[in-house]
Amino acid sequence: MTLNTPHIAPNGAEIAETILLPGDPLRAKFIAETYLENVTQFNTVRNMFGYTGEFKGQKVSVMGTGMGIPSASLYTHELIHFFGVKRLIRIGTCGGLSDVVDTFDIVVAASASTDSNFMAHYKLPGTFAPTASWSLLSAVAQEAEKQGVKLNVGNVLSSDVFYKSDFSDNKKWADMGVLAVEMETAGIYAVAAAAGVEALSVFTVSDHLFKGSDTTAEQRETSFTDMMELVLPVAAG
Ligand code: HPA
Repeated sequence: MTLNTPHIAPNGAEIAETILLPGDPLRAKFIAETYLENVTQFNTVRNMFGYTGEFKGQKVSVMGTGMGIPSASLYTHELIHFFGVKRLIRIGTCGGLSDVVDTFDIVVAASASTDSNFMAHYKLPGTFAPTASWSLLSAVAQEAEKQGVKLNVGNVLSSDVFYKSDFSDNKKWADMGVLAVEMETAGIYAVAAAAGVEALSVFTVSDHLFKGSDTTAEQRETSFTDMMELVLPVAAG
């Protein structure tokens, strides 16, 4: 019998224990076509494309999560609890908040603060601190060192709100040393923690909220490639 869930229907196709999670399903398709071999597609439900292939002979999957904690957390929940996924690596973009990061830098989320109420459903008697997997984080740090790639490792903000400039609290998060803002990591880290599996988010800075940035298509392409070259050996490790 093949197992399908409400949002993932592999119809028996394999999902690897390690999965890369871009927000955009077409980014998942591009990654599968560009970096993986022997690719099979395991999901088309809601066009949230998912693929399994091989990188250097190791099975790796890649699937979109959609945007925001509700979308990302339901896909990660199903991947972990129904399909046995053990290592989740979000790859995405973020908006720079801190002075120390520049557009096209790579940011790794050691931890993820949030303005979301997602954590409330765990009914904890305090504030949960969503934290990256040390084994994935240290592997990415070692790979960066080997490749001579600069990393910004620290706290990010997983926000429920993209268009908040009129009512913005962004500066307050920046003043607490938060490096960048995105919309999924705190949820993914919490779902992984509750299940006892590993998760890590790696980003390229696509824009900076307080620094002007004048960017080219070539810079965007290069920073994406740098991030993929960092993460793929770890995913296949
Ligand atoms: N806000 C939230 N998510 C993002 C941003 C941003 O400014 N840039 C890239 N992802």
